[in-house]
Amino acid sequence: MITPSTLRPVTDKALKFYIETYGCQMNFGDTEIVVSIMRDNGYIYVEKMEEADIVLVNTCSIRDNAEQRVWGRLSEFAALKRRRPALIVGVIGCMAERLKERLVEADKGVDIVAGPDSYRSLPSLMEEVKSGGKGINVLLSREETYADISPVRLDRNGVSAFVSIMRGCNNMCSYCVVPYTRGGERSRDSDTILAEVRDLFDRGYREVTLLGQNVNSYRYGDTTFADLMRMTAEVSPLLRVRFATSHPKDLSDELLKVMAAHPNICRSIHLPAQSGSDTMLERMNRKYTRGWYLERIDAIRRHMPDCAITTDIIAGFCGETQEEHEATLSLMRQVGYQFAYMFKYSEREGTKASRHMKDDIDDETKTRRLTEIINLQNDLSLESNRQDIGKTFEVLVEGPSKRNPDELVGRTSQNKVCVFADTVHRPGDYVTVQVDDCTSATLLCHRV
Ligand code: 5AD
Ligand code: SF4
Repeated sequence: MITPSTLRPVTDKALKFYIETYGCQMNFGDTEIVVSIMRDNGYIYVEKMEEADIVLVNTCSIRDNAEQRVWGRLSEFAALKRRRPALIVGVIGCMAERLKERLVEADKGVDIVAGPDSYRSLPSLMEEVKSGGKGINVLLSREETYADISPVRLDRNGVSAFVSIMRGCNNMCSYCVVPYTRGGERSRDSDTILAEVRDLFDRGYREVTLLGQNVNSYRYGDTTFADLMRMTAEVSPLLRVRFATSHPKDLSDELLKVMAAHPNICRSIHLPAQSGSDTMLERMNRKYTRGWYLERIDAIRRHMPDCAITTDIIAGFCGETQEEHEATLSLMRQVGYQFAYMFKYSEREGTKASRHMKDDIDDETKTRRLTEIINLQNDLSLESNRQDIGKTFEVLVEGPSKRNPDELVGRTSQNKVCVFADTVHRPGDYVTVQVDDCTSATLLCHRV
Protein backbone atom coordinates (compact mmCIF):
# COMPACT_ATOMS: atom_id res chain seq x y z
CA MET A 1 0.00 0.00 0.00
CA ILE A 2 1.25 3.48 -0.77
CA THR A 3 1.10 5.76 2.25
CA PRO A 4 2.36 9.34 2.40
CA SER A 5 5.47 8.17 4.25
CA THR A 6 6.42 5.56 1.64
CA LEU A 7 6.16 8.33 -0.97
CA ARG A 8 9.00 10.18 0.72
CA PRO A 9 12.29 9.84 -1.15
CA VAL A 10 14.65 7.45 0.63
CA THR A 11 17.38 10.08 0.31
CA ASP A 12 15.50 12.46 2.63
CA LYS A 13 18.27 12.41 5.24
CA ALA A 14 18.18 14.75 8.21
CA LEU A 15 19.37 18.17 7.05
CA LYS A 16 21.84 20.23 9.02
CA PHE A 17 21.19 23.90 9.72
CA TYR A 18 23.39 26.78 10.78
CA ILE A 19 22.07 30.08 12.14
CA GLU A 20 23.61 33.52 12.45
CA THR A 21 22.06 36.25 14.60
CA TYR A 22 22.14 40.06 14.36
CA GLY A 23 20.41 42.71 16.47
CA CYS A 24 19.05 42.88 19.97
CA GLN A 25 18.86 40.39 22.83
CA MET A 26 15.30 39.57 21.78
CA ASN A 27 16.70 38.33 18.51
CA PHE A 28 19.26 36.13 20.23
CA GLY A 29 16.41 34.75 22.33
CA ASP A 30 14.39 34.09 19.18
CA THR A 31 17.28 32.19 17.64
CA GLU A 32 17.14 29.78 20.59
CA ILE A 33 13.42 29.27 19.89
CA VAL A 34 14.11 28.67 16.20
CA VAL A 35 16.77 26.07 17.04
CA SER A 36 14.28 24.32 19.30
CA ILE A 37 11.55 24.26 16.62
CA MET A 38 13.94 23.03 13.92
CA ARG A 39 15.40 20.29 16.13
CA ASP A 40 11.94 19.09 17.15
CA ASN A 41 11.27 18.64 13.45
CA GLY A 42 14.30 16.49 12.81
CA TYR A 43 16.82 19.09 11.65
CA ILE A 44 20.33 18.97 13.09
CA TYR A 45 21.89 22.13 14.51
CA VAL A 46 25.52 22.75 13.52
CA GLU A 47 27.90 25.51 14.60
CA LYS A 48 29.90 25.62 11.38
CA MET A 49 28.42 27.06 8.22
CA GLU A 50 30.54 24.71 6.06
CA GLU A 51 28.70 21.69 7.46
CA ALA A 52 25.22 23.06 6.86
CA ASP A 53 22.58 22.23 4.26
CA ILE A 54 20.53 25.19 5.44
CA VAL A 55 21.81 28.65 6.41
CA LEU A 56 19.48 30.94 8.37
CA VAL A 57 20.14 34.61 9.22
CA ASN A 58 18.13 36.16 12.01
CA THR A 59 18.13 39.82 11.07
CA CYS A 60 17.70 43.33 12.47
CA SER A 61 16.17 46.41 10.83
CA ILE A 62 16.65 49.01 13.53
CA ARG A 63 19.20 51.07 11.56
CA ASP A 64 20.26 50.96 7.96
CA ASN A 65 23.77 49.75 8.84
CA ALA A 66 22.28 46.66 10.53
CA GLU A 67 20.54 45.80 7.26
CA GLN A 68 23.62 46.57 5.15
CA ARG A 69 25.62 44.03 7.13
CA VAL A 70 23.03 41.37 6.36
CA TRP A 71 23.02 42.24 2.64
CA GLY A 72 26.79 41.73 2.70
CA ARG A 73 26.33 38.31 4.27
CA LEU A 74 23.64 37.39 1.73
CA SER A 75 26.09 38.13 -1.10
CA GLU A 76 28.54 35.72 0.51
CA PHE A 77 25.85 33.04 0.86
CA ALA A 78 24.88 33.58 -2.79
CA ALA A 79 28.50 32.94 -3.82
CA LEU A 80 28.52 29.78 -1.69
CA LYS A 81 25.30 28.69 -3.31
CA ARG A 82 26.79 28.94 -6.79
CA ARG A 83 29.21 26.24 -5.69
CA ARG A 84 26.58 24.28 -3.75
CA PRO A 85 23.22 24.79 -5.49
CA ALA A 86 21.37 22.58 -2.99
CA LEU A 87 22.11 24.99 -0.14
CA ILE A 88 18.93 26.51 1.35
CA VAL A 89 19.19 30.14 2.50
CA GLY A 90 16.61 31.65 4.84
CA VAL A 91 16.21 35.21 6.06
CA ILE A 92 14.22 35.42 9.28
CA GLY A 93 13.37 38.13 11.82
CA CYS A 94 12.87 41.85 11.47
CA MET A 95 14.34 42.35 7.99
CA ALA A 96 12.24 39.47 6.69
CA GLU A 97 9.16 41.17 8.09
CA ARG A 98 10.09 44.58 6.70
CA LEU A 99 11.14 43.57 3.19
CA LYS A 100 8.96 40.47 2.64
CA GLU A 101 9.00 39.27 -1.02
CA ARG A 102 11.57 41.92 -1.89
CA LEU A 103 14.18 39.65 -0.27
CA VAL A 104 13.44 36.82 -2.68
CA GLU A 105 13.31 39.19 -5.65
CA ALA A 106 16.72 40.66 -4.80
CA ASP A 107 18.49 37.82 -6.63
CA LYS A 108 20.65 36.80 -3.69
CA GLY A 109 19.53 33.19 -3.66
CA VAL A 110 17.13 33.60 -0.73
CA ASP A 111 14.70 30.64 -0.48
CA ILE A 112 12.93 31.31 2.82
CA VAL A 113 11.54 34.50 4.35
CA ALA A 114 10.04 34.18 7.83
CA GLY A 115 8.97 37.05 10.10
CA PRO A 116 9.28 37.03 13.92
CA ASP A 117 5.84 35.51 14.47
CA SER A 118 6.09 32.68 11.93
CA TYR A 119 8.90 30.53 13.29
CA ARG A 120 6.55 27.63 13.94
CA SER A 121 6.01 27.42 10.20
CA LEU A 122 9.74 27.08 9.38
CA PRO A 123 9.51 23.27 8.91
CA SER A 124 6.65 23.64 6.42
CA LEU A 125 8.50 26.47 4.65
CA MET A 126 11.47 24.07 4.34
CA GLU A 127 9.16 21.52 2.72
CA GLU A 128 8.01 24.11 0.16
CA VAL A 129 11.62 24.80 -0.75
CA LYS A 130 12.45 21.10 -0.99
CA SER A 131 9.65 20.71 -3.51
CA GLY A 132 11.09 23.47 -5.65
CA GLY A 133 9.30 26.58 -4.42
CA LYS A 134 10.05 29.48 -2.09
CA GLY A 135 8.87 29.52 1.51
CA ILE A 136 7.48 32.86 2.67
CA ASN A 137 5.51 33.64 5.83
CA VAL A 138 5.50 37.16 7.22
CA LEU A 139 2.17 37.13 9.04
CA LEU A 140 2.26 38.96 12.34
CA SER A 141 0.21 37.61 15.19
CA ARG A 142 -1.65 39.10 18.13
CA GLU A 143 -1.14 35.99 20.25
CA GLU A 144 2.14 34.29 19.41
CA THR A 145 4.52 34.28 22.39
CA TYR A 146 6.17 30.87 21.81
CA ALA A 147 5.21 30.28 25.46
CA ASP A 148 5.32 26.48 25.21
CA ILE A 149 8.65 26.21 23.42
CA SER A 150 11.75 25.60 25.50
CA PRO A 151 14.59 27.51 23.90
CA VAL A 152 17.78 25.56 23.21
CA ARG A 153 20.42 27.54 25.14
CA LEU A 154 23.24 28.49 22.82
CA ASP A 155 25.27 30.57 25.27
CA ARG A 156 28.43 28.90 26.41
CA ASN A 157 28.89 29.95 30.02
CA GLY A 158 25.81 28.14 31.36
CA VAL A 159 25.42 30.89 33.97
CA SER A 160 23.16 33.57 32.52
CA ALA A 161 20.15 33.17 30.23
CA PHE A 162 17.59 35.39 28.54
CA VAL A 163 13.91 34.66 29.07
CA SER A 164 11.43 36.31 26.74
CA ILE A 165 8.37 37.57 28.64
CA MET A 166 6.61 39.59 25.98
CA ARG A 167 6.78 40.37 22.29
CA GLY A 168 6.06 43.36 20.11
CA CYS A 169 5.64 47.01 20.94
CA ASN A 170 2.75 49.52 21.05
CA ASN A 171 4.73 52.66 21.72
CA MET A 172 5.05 54.14 18.26
CA CYS A 173 8.16 56.24 18.82
CA SER A 174 8.30 58.20 15.60
CA TYR A 175 11.77 56.98 14.54
CA CYS A 176 11.28 53.29 15.29
CA VAL A 177 10.56 50.38 12.99
CA VAL A 178 9.96 47.79 15.73
CA PRO A 179 6.14 48.05 15.94
CA TYR A 180 6.08 47.28 12.19
CA THR A 181 8.54 44.39 12.27
CA ARG A 182 7.48 42.78 15.53
CA GLY A 183 3.83 43.76 15.69
CA GLY A 184 1.76 44.69 18.71
CA GLU A 185 2.45 43.97 22.36
CA ARG A 186 1.49 40.63 23.92
CA SER A 187 2.57 39.09 27.22
CA ARG A 188 3.57 35.50 27.78
CA ASP A 189 1.79 33.27 30.30
CA SER A 190 3.52 33.90 33.65
CA ASP A 191 3.35 30.21 34.66
CA THR A 192 5.42 29.22 31.62
CA ILE A 193 7.94 31.98 32.39
CA LEU A 194 8.35 30.81 35.99
CA ALA A 195 8.62 27.17 34.92
CA GLU A 196 11.38 28.14 32.48
CA VAL A 197 13.22 30.12 35.17
CA ARG A 198 12.99 27.26 37.71
CA ASP A 199 14.28 24.83 35.11
CA LEU A 200 17.23 27.12 34.33
CA PHE A 201 18.06 27.42 38.02
CA ASP A 202 17.91 23.64 38.45
CA ARG A 203 20.31 23.28 35.53
CA GLY A 204 22.84 25.54 37.25
CA TYR A 205 22.01 28.93 35.75
CA ARG A 206 22.44 31.76 38.25
CA GLU A 207 21.18 34.79 36.31
CA VAL A 208 18.12 35.41 34.17
CA THR A 209 17.28 38.52 32.18
CA LEU A 210 13.57 38.97 31.53
CA LEU A 211 13.27 40.37 28.06
CA GLY A 212 10.78 42.45 26.12
CA GLN A 213 10.64 45.65 24.08
CA ASN A 214 8.80 47.34 26.95
CA VAL A 215 8.77 45.03 29.97
CA ASN A 216 7.05 47.57 32.21
CA SER A 217 3.80 47.12 30.33
CA TYR A 218 3.85 43.33 30.89
CA ARG A 219 0.44 42.07 31.99
CA TYR A 220 -0.87 38.53 32.02
CA GLY A 221 -4.30 38.23 33.67
CA ASP A 222 -3.83 40.12 36.92
CA THR A 223 -0.05 39.66 36.96
CA THR A 224 1.88 42.91 36.45
CA PHE A 225 5.58 43.22 35.71
CA ALA A 226 6.26 44.03 39.37
CA ASP A 227 4.44 40.81 40.38
CA LEU A 228 6.38 38.79 37.83
CA MET A 229 9.68 40.22 39.07
CA ARG A 230 8.79 39.36 42.67
CA MET A 231 7.84 35.79 41.74
CA THR A 232 11.00 35.37 39.65
CA ALA A 233 13.21 36.72 42.43
CA GLU A 234 11.57 34.30 44.87
CA VAL A 235 12.60 31.26 42.80
CA SER A 236 15.88 31.38 44.78
CA PRO A 237 17.95 34.01 46.59
CA LEU A 238 20.91 32.57 44.65
CA LEU A 239 19.35 33.55 41.34
CA ARG A 240 20.11 37.01 40.00
CA VAL A 241 17.29 38.68 38.10
CA ARG A 242 17.70 41.41 35.49
CA PHE A 243 15.33 42.89 32.94
CA ALA A 244 15.38 44.87 29.70
CA THR A 245 14.10 47.16 28.36
CA SER A 246 12.06 49.73 30.29
CA HIS A 247 10.16 52.63 28.82
CA PRO A 248 10.51 55.62 31.21
CA LYS A 249 6.81 56.46 30.97
CA ASP A 250 5.91 53.06 32.49
CA LEU A 251 8.57 52.65 35.20
CA SER A 252 6.38 52.25 38.29
CA ASP A 253 7.11 52.86 41.98
CA GLU A 254 5.60 49.44 42.59
CA LEU A 255 8.44 47.87 40.56
CA LEU A 256 11.07 49.96 42.37
CA LYS A 257 9.67 48.78 45.71
CA VAL A 258 9.84 45.12 44.63
CA MET A 259 13.43 45.65 43.44
CA ALA A 260 14.47 47.33 46.68
CA ALA A 261 12.94 44.48 48.72
CA HIS A 262 14.84 41.75 46.84
CA PRO A 263 18.64 41.97 46.96
CA ASN A 264 18.90 39.36 44.18
CA ILE A 265 17.14 41.71 41.73
CA CYS A 266 20.12 43.47 40.19
CA ARG A 267 20.81 47.11 40.94
CA SER A 268 20.80 48.14 37.32
CA ILE A 269 18.11 49.78 35.20
CA HIS A 270 18.35 50.44 31.49
CA LEU A 271 16.18 53.49 30.91
CA PRO A 272 16.52 54.79 27.35
CA ALA A 273 16.23 58.59 27.36
CA GLN A 274 16.88 59.06 23.60
CA SER A 275 17.12 62.86 24.13
CA GLY A 276 17.31 65.43 26.90
CA SER A 277 15.17 68.04 25.16
CA ASP A 278 11.41 68.42 25.62
CA THR A 279 10.79 69.63 22.08
CA MET A 280 12.79 66.70 20.71
CA LEU A 281 11.07 64.16 22.98
CA GLU A 282 7.78 65.49 21.66
CA ARG A 283 8.88 64.98 18.03
CA MET A 284 10.10 61.50 18.94
CA ASN A 285 6.66 60.78 20.46
CA ARG A 286 8.26 59.52 23.65
CA LYS A 287 5.29 60.57 25.83
CA TYR A 288 7.43 61.97 28.68
CA THR A 289 9.34 65.17 29.35
CA ARG A 290 12.85 65.71 30.65
CA GLY A 291 11.30 66.68 34.00
CA TRP A 292 9.31 63.43 34.17
CA TYR A 293 12.38 61.42 33.24
CA LEU A 294 14.49 63.10 35.93
CA GLU A 295 11.76 62.50 38.49
CA ARG A 296 11.93 58.76 37.62
CA ILE A 297 15.71 58.89 38.10
CA ASP A 298 15.15 60.47 41.54
CA ALA A 299 12.64 57.72 42.35
CA ILE A 300 15.19 55.03 41.43
CA ARG A 301 17.80 56.68 43.66
CA ARG A 302 15.33 57.08 46.54
CA HIS A 303 14.57 53.35 46.49
CA MET A 304 18.04 52.09 45.57
CA PRO A 305 20.88 54.59 46.09
CA ASP A 306 23.38 52.09 44.61
CA CYS A 307 21.44 51.40 41.40
CA ALA A 308 23.31 51.80 38.10
CA ILE A 309 21.41 53.62 35.36
CA THR A 310 22.18 53.12 31.69
CA THR A 311 20.55 54.53 28.58
CA ASP A 312 20.14 54.79 24.81
CA ILE A 313 20.72 58.09 22.98
CA ILE A 314 19.96 59.06 19.39
CA ALA A 315 22.01 61.87 17.78
CA GLY A 316 20.73 63.97 14.89
CA PHE A 317 17.05 63.09 14.76
CA CYS A 318 14.84 65.19 12.45
CA GLY A 319 15.22 68.94 12.99
CA GLU A 320 17.64 68.60 15.92
CA THR A 321 18.94 72.06 16.86
CA GLN A 322 22.28 72.72 18.54
CA GLU A 323 20.31 73.68 21.64
CA GLU A 324 18.45 70.35 21.65
CA HIS A 325 21.72 68.49 21.24
CA GLU A 326 23.20 70.38 24.20
CA ALA A 327 20.15 69.47 26.27
CA THR A 328 21.01 65.80 25.65
CA LEU A 329 24.60 66.35 26.81
CA SER A 330 23.37 68.15 29.91
CA LEU A 331 20.90 65.35 30.73
CA MET A 332 23.73 62.82 30.45
CA ARG A 333 25.85 64.86 32.88
CA GLN A 334 22.94 65.37 35.23
CA VAL A 335 22.13 61.64 35.44
CA GLY A 336 25.75 60.46 35.26
CA TYR A 337 25.02 57.28 33.31
CA GLN A 338 27.21 54.24 33.95
CA PHE A 339 26.91 53.16 30.34
CA ALA A 340 25.05 54.10 27.15
CA TYR A 341 24.27 52.77 23.69
CA MET A 342 24.61 55.73 21.33
CA PHE A 343 23.43 55.97 17.73
CA LYS A 344 23.18 58.28 14.75
CA TYR A 345 19.61 58.64 13.58
CA SER A 346 18.85 56.39 10.63
CA GLU A 347 15.58 56.94 8.76
CA ARG A 348 13.40 53.83 8.49
CA GLU A 349 10.79 53.48 5.78
CA GLY A 350 7.20 53.38 7.04
CA THR A 351 7.81 55.06 10.40
CA LYS A 352 6.03 58.27 11.42
CA ALA A 353 9.28 60.20 11.03
CA SER A 354 9.84 58.96 7.48
CA ARG A 355 6.28 59.87 6.54
CA HIS A 356 5.93 63.25 8.23
CA MET A 357 9.39 64.64 9.06
CA LYS A 358 12.57 65.47 7.23
CA ASP A 359 15.84 63.63 7.90
CA ASP A 360 17.51 67.05 7.59
CA ILE A 361 20.61 66.83 9.79
CA ASP A 362 23.59 66.34 7.52
CA ASP A 363 25.82 63.37 8.18
CA GLU A 364 28.77 65.51 9.25
CA THR A 365 26.68 67.16 11.97
CA LYS A 366 25.25 63.81 13.08
CA THR A 367 28.75 62.39 13.33
CA ARG A 368 30.09 65.37 15.26
CA ARG A 369 27.21 65.28 17.75
CA LEU A 370 27.50 61.52 18.18
CA THR A 371 31.23 61.87 18.83
CA GLU A 372 30.56 64.48 21.51
CA ILE A 373 28.01 62.16 23.10
CA ILE A 374 30.40 59.18 23.02
CA ASN A 375 33.29 61.19 24.44
CA LEU A 376 31.12 62.48 27.26
CA GLN A 377 29.87 58.97 28.04
CA ASN A 378 33.44 57.64 28.19
CA ASP A 379 34.21 60.32 30.80
CA LEU A 380 31.05 59.49 32.74
CA SER A 381 31.77 55.73 32.67
CA LEU A 382 35.33 56.29 33.87
CA GLU A 383 34.13 58.65 36.61
CA SER A 384 31.52 56.15 37.76
CA ASN A 385 34.10 53.34 37.84
CA ARG A 386 36.60 55.53 39.75
CA GLN A 387 34.01 56.05 42.44
CA ASP A 388 34.00 52.27 42.96
CA ILE A 389 37.72 52.10 43.79
CA GLY A 390 38.12 50.77 47.33
CA LYS A 391 34.56 49.37 47.48
CA THR A 392 33.73 45.67 47.76
CA PHE A 393 31.20 43.88 45.55
CA GLU A 394 29.73 40.43 45.27
CA VAL A 395 30.31 39.24 41.70
CA LEU A 396 28.80 36.34 39.81
CA VAL A 397 31.61 34.50 38.03
CA GLU A 398 31.08 34.08 34.27
CA GLY A 399 34.35 32.43 33.28
CA PRO A 400 38.10 32.86 32.83
CA SER A 401 39.45 36.12 31.47
CA LYS A 402 40.40 35.98 27.78
CA ARG A 403 43.73 37.64 28.43
CA ASN A 404 44.89 35.65 31.43
CA PRO A 405 43.74 32.12 32.34
CA ASP A 406 44.66 32.79 36.00
CA GLU A 407 42.04 35.54 36.16
CA LEU A 408 38.25 35.33 36.31
CA VAL A 409 35.62 37.65 34.90
CA GLY A 410 32.37 38.34 36.71
CA ARG A 411 29.79 41.07 37.07
CA THR A 412 28.53 43.14 39.95
CA SER A 413 24.84 43.58 40.61
CA GLN A 414 25.27 46.93 38.80
CA ASN A 415 26.36 44.93 35.74
CA LYS A 416 29.93 46.21 35.81
CA VAL A 417 32.61 43.81 34.58
CA CYS A 418 35.20 42.82 37.20
CA VAL A 419 38.51 41.03 36.55
CA PHE A 420 40.44 39.40 39.42
CA ALA A 421 43.12 36.77 40.02
CA ASP A 422 41.46 33.49 40.99
CA THR A 423 42.11 29.89 40.01
CA VAL A 424 39.69 28.36 42.52
CA HIS A 425 36.20 29.52 41.63
CA ARG A 426 34.07 28.43 38.72
CA PRO A 427 31.35 29.92 36.53
CA GLY A 428 28.18 30.37 38.58
CA ASP A 429 30.01 30.96 41.89
CA TYR A 430 29.60 34.16 43.89
CA VAL A 431 32.85 35.82 44.95
CA THR A 432 33.49 38.97 46.99
CA VAL A 433 36.05 41.32 45.47
CA GLN A 434 37.51 44.73 46.23
CA VAL A 435 38.20 47.26 43.48
CA ASP A 436 41.84 48.40 43.14
CA ASP A 437 41.77 50.24 39.84
CA CYS A 438 39.64 50.68 36.72
CA THR A 439 39.34 51.58 33.07
CA SER A 440 36.17 53.11 31.59
CA ALA A 441 34.94 49.56 30.85
CA THR A 442 36.34 47.31 33.62
CA LEU A 443 36.90 47.19 37.37
CA LEU A 444 40.29 45.66 38.26
CA CYS A 445 39.86 43.84 41.56
CA HIS A 446 41.26 41.35 44.05
CA ARG A 447 39.47 38.67 46.05
CA VAL A 448 38.73 39.37 49.69
N1 5AD B 1 17.89 55.34 14.22
C1 5AD B 1 18.83 55.29 15.19
N2 5AD B 1 18.66 54.66 16.36
C2 5AD B 1 17.46 54.07 16.57
N3 5AD B 1 16.99 53.37 17.63
C3 5AD B 1 15.75 52.95 17.33
N4 5AD B 1 15.40 53.36 16.11
C4 5AD B 1 16.44 54.07 15.62
C5 5AD B 1 16.68 54.75 14.39
N5 5AD B 1 15.76 54.80 13.44
C6 5AD B 1 17.76 53.17 18.86
C7 5AD B 1 17.02 53.68 20.09
C8 5AD B 1 16.54 52.42 20.74
C9 5AD B 1 17.64 51.45 20.40
C10 5AD B 1 17.27 50.02 20.52
O1 5AD B 1 17.95 51.77 19.07
O2 5AD B 1 17.94 54.36 20.89
O3 5AD B 1 16.38 52.57 22.15
FE1 SF4 C 1 16.55 45.00 15.58
FE2 SF4 C 1 14.50 46.04 16.85
FE3 SF4 C 1 14.16 43.81 15.52
FE4 SF4 C 1 15.62 43.82 17.78
S1 SF4 C 1 13.41 44.27 17.56
S2 SF4 C 1 16.15 42.84 15.89
S3 SF4 C 1 16.60 45.84 17.62
S4 SF4 C 1 14.67 45.83 14.67
